[in-house]
Amino acid sequence: MADNEGFKASKDYHLDVLPKQEGFYVKGLDHCDWGMKNRLSRMFSPRSGNTVMLAFDHGYIMGSTAGLERLDLAIPPLIEEVDVLMAMRGALRSCIPPQMDKAVCMRVTYDASVAKEDMTVGSGLSADVQNAVMMNACCMAVQTFIGSEGESASLENLCRTIDAGTRFGIPTLGVVAVGKQMARDTKFFLLATRILAEMGAHVVKSYYCEDFEKVAAACPVPIVIAGGKKVPEDEALNMAYRAVSEGARGVDMGRNIFQAENPKMMARAVGKVVHEGFTDRQAYEFYCDMK
Ligand code: 5RP
Repeated sequence: MADNEGFKASKDYHLDVLPKQEGFYVKGLDHCDWGMKNRLSRMFSPRSGNTVMLAFDHGYIMGSTAGLERLDLAIPPLIEEVDVLMAMRGALRSCIPPQMDKAVCMRVTYDASVAKEDMTVGSGLSADVQNAVMMNACCMAVQTFIGSEGESASLENLCRTIDAGTRFGIPTLGVVAVGKQMARDTKFFLLATRILAEMGAHVVKSYYCEDFEKVAAACPVPIVIAGGKKVPEDEALNMAYRAVSEGARGVDMGRNIFQAENPKMMARAVGKVVHEGFTDRQAYEFYCDMK
């Protein structure tokens, strides 16, 4: 109980100062409640508005992946270089020190593994929102397969996750996957990113493509770009630079960081592009100097 003795009467109401009425800085999410905005602010830097997410969820469909043979050795040194860790709960629990303070984006779907012919069929929910709360997740990620056989099931996963997450103030990241029969072109990415956003995804993960500017403009929430297959470091930095210059709010990169010759410095160089306005050339020079 507050003590009434020595109670000071309130008097300073700053009547001449209007309350701040700024909109929330993360695109399209001004209507969200405080908890959700707080989680989004842990993902997207309030200073740059952007994010560097480190994806190391590959094992959920690919098993042991080059660079991730030992998650407990590969990931901890990279944590301080990024804003968000994107992973499965098993990887987080077993290999990530719980005292780390970065935001977690927990993947909550299972999908067909590389052992299956059609990887777009057979997805489901691998974790529910209560588990995401237990894992202190700032975001839940759901794989989707627009244009492929698994489209409906994956959209069902997405919508159920958004519904549940909204009740707990946890945003959902919709991940655009490209099925074998789909072309990786502007038309497909315009379609897929927009569908996920209209379903209610708070953030969309997609690929950089030609006319990316149009894709980013037409998507009412932030897009973070996937890294994709490993390419030389200067090319990966160039892709990150072009994406951010054309409207992406950051990257969700895996192999192009953890399979780089120097993963820690690569993560730092990506951060220079995403947060500090470095050009890809400047970031690559930085990487070469540091490596
Ligand atoms: C596939 C995924 C991933 O499993 C992963 O995040 C991919 O990362 P990268 O392509 O940068 O290695 O989201 O859709």
